[in-house]
Amino acid sequence: MNGFICPVCGDNLISDDKCLLCNNRHSFDRAKSGYVNLLLSQQSKQHGDDKLMVRSRRDFLDKGYYRPLLNAILELLPKYVKSGDCILDAGCGECYYTAGIYKRLKDDGITAKIRGVDISKDALASGAKRCTELVLAVASVYSLPVGNDSTDILLSFFAPYSGNEFLRVLKPGGIFMRVFPLQRHLFSLKSVVYEKPYENKVESYELEGFELIESKESRNKIHLESNEDIRNVFSMTPYYYKTSSDDIKKLDTINELETEIEFGILMYRK
Ligand SMILES: C[S@@+](CC[C@H](N)C(=O)[O-])C[C@H]1O[C@@H](n2cnc3c(N)ncnc32)[C@H](O)[C@@H]1O
Ligand SMILES: [Zn+2]
Repeated sequence: MNGFICPVCGDNLISDDKCLLCNNRHSFDRAKSGYVNLLLSQQSKQHGDDKLMVRSRRDFLDKGYYRPLLNAILELLPKYVKSGDCILDAGCGECYYTAGIYKRLKDDGITAKIRGVDISKDALASGAKRCTELVLAVASVYSLPVGNDSTDILLSFFAPYSGNEFLRVLKPGGIFMRVFPLQRHLFSLKSVVYEKPYENKVESYELEGFELIESKESRNKIHLESNEDIRNVFSMTPYYYKTSSDDIKKLDTINELETEIEFGILMYRK
């Protein structure tokens, strides 16, 4: 069971060799790397991360710089998961955290079904290679291709929040885990580029329809060891496309940098 529903008629999708099919003969091709594209043409105007952002994030995360965050996630999440649970990572990107969670649960003997959805094909092509056991679909978090009350655990890490849709797919009592950057995340990196760097705006922790049950703020410093790593971390953020090429060039002059990595991790119950 792939657990996805047809984005056209809402019927369950059944896996075939090369595609997913519903009873009404809507079919969706599976890419060579293994993900399936469930994005309808009218939704495909929304943009996800492009190849440069995906490659930068993959190379950066693979060096382990955000391992402290993965560790913090793995300290909080497993106690909420039991065998047979359906986990959905909404905006999973290259599946660095999704794959880390899969591995940890497997090591703990917990057999959960883990699905990931992202609007970027490039991200999922990379994610499918990272962990072949994940079930991945191109789709929007604003129209998730899973049924009502189908999900035990929903993850949203640095990805767009879609309150009504998250409430629709979560089972009553289901868990929602949210990760986002705190005020001074990457502040020293931003100080290299901007004359007047600003702190990140942090949204309220309260979410309609959810009860906040646990929260953790993870604050560390990392030492970026090369110009490539510095450029990668900058290119994987939304700042990249909002910054002038003259400002981005300021990064060329540095080969190492210490910067803050600061995250909020919140656990909610529906
Ligand atoms: C900052 S990345 C985070 C990726 C991953 N969760 C991680 O922490 O490594 C944000 C992700 O959200 C995806 N995204 C943006 N808008 C989306 C949408 N409407 N639906 C699904 N994914 C979206 C992007 O393609 C990108 O992969
Ligand atoms: Zn259908």
